[in-house]
Amino acid sequence: MKAVRIHAYGGQEVLTLEEAPLPTLGDRDILVRVIASSINPVDWKIRAGYLKEMLHYQLPIILGWDVSGIVEATGKDVSRFNIGDAVYSRPNILRDGSYAEYIAIDESEAAFKPKTISHACAASLPLAGITAWDVLVKAAAIKAGDRVLIHAGSGGVGSLAVQLAKAFGAYVVATTSSKNIPLVKSLGADQVIDYRTQAFEHIVHEMDIVFDTIGGEVQEKSWAVLKQGGILVSVVSPPSATKAAEHAVRSAFVFIEPDAAVLKELALLVDAGKMRPIIAAEFALEDIAKAHALSESGRADGKIIVHVGKP
Ligand SMILES: NC(=O)c1ccc[n+]([C@@H]2O[C@H](COP(=O)([O-])OP(=O)(O)OC[C@H]3O[C@@H](n4cnc5c(N)ncnc54)[C@H](OP(=O)(O)O)[C@@H]3O)[C@@H](O)[C@H]2O)c1
Repeated sequence: MKAVRIHAYGGQEVLTLEEAPLPTLGDRDILVRVIASSINPVDWKIRAGYLKEMLHYQLPIILGWDVSGIVEATGKDVSRFNIGDAVYSRPNILRDGSYAEYIAIDESEAAFKPKTISHACAASLPLAGITAWDVLVKAAAIKAGDRVLIHAGSGGVGSLAVQLAKAFGAYVVATTSSKNIPLVKSLGADQVIDYRTQAFEHIVHEMDIVFDTIGGEVQEKSWAVLKQGGILVSVVSPPSATKAAEHAVRSAFVFIEPDAAVLKELALLVDAGKMRPIIAAEFALEDIAKAHALSESGRADGKIIVHVGKP
């Protein structure tokens, strides 16, 4: 099959389009013909070798941990899916990913794709959507009326987090730069702060939840905007427990896992019109290096789609 693999860690030049063996199908695996994949920052962080102490790979590997496609074969113990089903997934990051014509996925990591959107749009949802859900629903137990600050409301994760928080009835403040303010308002944010010209820590206060997608100084400045008992959740770097205690707030770090139950919830929200994928750009598999370059620029407004097979 056609696949993009890396044989060594490095820059965009290590992304190699080549023939690779078809995935081996385990008893609980479904073989999915990939129609679309999407890029997440973790793809180029792994490619560059930044995560090699944490995630141990035997190279070569196929990157890409978002997928939407069609079930082509099933292992002997598969019970939830049949050949021909349209599925989407954020599969196990320790196995080969979805920059390829086929991917093998444990059936527990897949769900039926939302019915009302294309495979390309569906491929934009799993990783970023599970992240938004795990932070807001699981870690922060969001509820109606909560005041929520979402950093980078225009990002792949943030654009879904804003919509999810609104779907739960929260008051949502989001940061972005001026060019993306109309986009973030269109997602339902009640207040949008231009982080380049305004200091969010002087504008918002008494927040129940801060969703940190940036880390560093942004995380540091976020403690002061929380109300007592509020929670700072980061997906970038573990917040300091000492700082949390000093501010009488809680903190959490989230690193997501595959989760079919959450994918089912996301599909319900999308099919009910309560959440829509935001697409920044679309690339062919052959142009994967350009897709990585856009993600690495940190400027994507929404998700970056990679078209792999015919719908
Ligand atoms: N731990 C986990 O399980 C997990 C899961 C998913 C993601 N992550 C991490 O979360 C981070 C965000 O991921 P993502 O996919 O959302 O990234 P992304 O789509 O690449 O984010 C790009 C967006 O960030 C905005 N941005 C950049 N700097 C900003 C700042 N200082 N303040 C506010 N907005 C800013 C940009 O807006 P402008 O162009 O307007 O500046 C752009 O729209 C990444 O580091 C990723 O690795 C972790």
